[in-house]
Amino acid sequence: CGIVGYIGDEQATPILIEGLKKLEYRGYDSAGIAVINDGNINIKKAKGRISELEEALKKDNLYGSIGIGHTRWATHGEPSDINSHPHLSQSGIIAVVHNGIIENYLPLKKRLIEEGYTFKSETDTEVVANLLEYYYKGDIVEAVMKVLDRIEGSYALGVLSKDHPDMIVAARKDAPLIVGLGDGENFIASDVPAILRHTRKVYFLDDKEIAIIKKDSVKIIDAFGKDVQKSVFEVKWDVESAEKSGYEHFMLKEIHEQPNAIKDTLRGRIINDGEIVLDKVKITKDEIDKIEKIFIVACGTAYHAGVVGKYAIEKFARIPVEVDIASEFRYREPIINERTLTIVVSQSGETADTIAALKEAKKHNSRVIAITNVVGSSISREADDVIYTWAGPEIAVASTKAYTTQLVALYLIALDLALKKGTIEKEYAKQICDELKKLPERAERILNYKDELQEFASNHFNTKDVFYLGRGLDYAVAMEGSLKLKEISYIHSEAYAAGELKHGTLALIENGTLVIALATQEHLFEKMLSNIREVTTRGGYVLAFAMEGNKQLEGIVEKVIYLPKTMEEVAPIITVIPLQLLAYYMAVEKGCDVDKPRNLAKSVTVE
Ligand code: G6P
Repeated sequence: CGIVGYIGDEQATPILIEGLKKLEYRGYDSAGIAVINDGNINIKKAKGRISELEEALKKDNLYGSIGIGHTRWATHGEPSDINSHPHLSQSGIIAVVHNGIIENYLPLKKRLIEEGYTFKSETDTEVVANLLEYYYKGDIVEAVMKVLDRIEGSYALGVLSKDHPDMIVAARKDAPLIVGLGDGENFIASDVPAILRHTRKVYFLDDKEIAIIKKDSVKIIDAFGKDVQKSVFEVKWDVESAEKSGYEHFMLKEIHEQPNAIKDTLRGRIINDGEIVLDKVKITKDEIDKIEKIFIVACGTAYHAGVVGKYAIEKFARIPVEVDIASEFRYREPIINERTLTIVVSQSGETADTIAALKEAKKHNSRVIAITNVVGSSISREADDVIYTWAGPEIAVASTKAYTTQLVALYLIALDLALKKGTIEKEYAKQICDELKKLPERAERILNYKDELQEFASNHFNTKDVFYLGRGLDYAVAMEGSLKLKEISYIHSEAYAAGELKHGTLALIENGTLVIALATQEHLFEKMLSNIREVTTRGGYVLAFAMEGNKQLEGIVEKVIYLPKTMEEVAPIITVIPLQLLAYYMAVEKGCDVDKPRNLAKSVTVE
């Protein structure tokens, strides 16, 4: 979900709407705003996109210069007008917008009903609104403090009180929230793009902090009411980079940003032709020698990056790596201790399951390194060390440039560990570094395959099932290629380790079944070739990806796309790009909402 709030001299409504539009990628089941005017809190909300809310406001606008807004991704209660935010307390004196989940909302709701409160919606947020009213004795900040003491779970809250038309109160725990600092006006937002047009100066709130925001002042206190001194963070992103720059979709724009994103993520991190500098991460040789196992924990695309990371770290640094899905890791009592290094990977840095996994690892004294794209995100602040992927804001739900830059970061970690541990020769490390540095230019060349892939997509978008096959690193990339296709084009797809095909999936291959075969790994090529033959013999239609110069697939498969020759160890970083493009064009041909696929959200801040 997304939150925005404004207090100043301007009309709040257009500022809130514009901010919500910038956050639409965080959720778009419903949207709403609350604005104070003449001592009353007025609310307008609508199911569906923000444009629906705008329509409703055209008929009946809200006036006033203080307000809060919300765009929702449903968790408690189906998407509907009633369940959308802001929520008013029973007598209409307090309005609340909320991201996250209040875990103990049912017992609290029961208590409030016993106290005579009635509820209009099924949401946990309305419980917060009524609980605030219950505790409110004239001081809204005090009521917020009491409520925070009672609620469990995750939240970013924005609160308006009818009796306090000069302030917004905001608080957070385990959900992002920032305060934007303007001149005679101030803002709250769950995410930077919402307020970038108005200010670049922000405070990142920490867990359990409360912000009291007035037109001319911002005061931050902790859970006990003590003043907190925050430092102002200057956001460097330009407004342009958060918008589409002329591309039809954010996803296509972000695919095209990969050469630069890779370059930025490498920048300054390879020195002296093969030494690695990882920002402030300082792991000594002694510390590395004590590491017995590494966990890489993440969700979705970031998890797939972790699968590549496992290959790289095990190959270079010879330390056993387990890759785990965060939602599994947190509940399966992983075997972890101070001799385990945990790497969490998260584009947003706000994924609830990944944060929980991070906490689980820390609880067991494991050092945690985070790879994330968002400065100041929860994960960046909770981890012991952070390596940022400098991909810039990623708006499309389907992750592209975050993935490739996560791979870059994982390769750099793998090399750093290996060099310190002495498991690879300097000369070999130098060769890999050289290859990494050449990737931006190669990625650029791959973007030229657009037309070819678009044409392929226009002939195959009616396909019902697609199978992605690969061995070794190609298998890891196949997983990501398959995810891209299914999430945006809704075509059923599966990724298989090619050698595993004959143990089950081969039964599904029949005349015309589309199979994407990745064959970039030289040392596995012969094996891959026989797996491809298993498919073609059954009538499968194969699109293969191979390295330039390797002509062996000609005449065996329907179509081969040649990737710029790259050392097989780092091939995933470029192999994934045509797969992203293929998924993109398949989805476009099918007329899907590419940037906002159904049922999915960019940042999943709930479990
Ligand atoms: C959501 C997004 C995915 C993303 C995953 C993990 O499911 O739709 O694209 O890979 O979350 O997000 P993170 O921000 O932790 O990388």
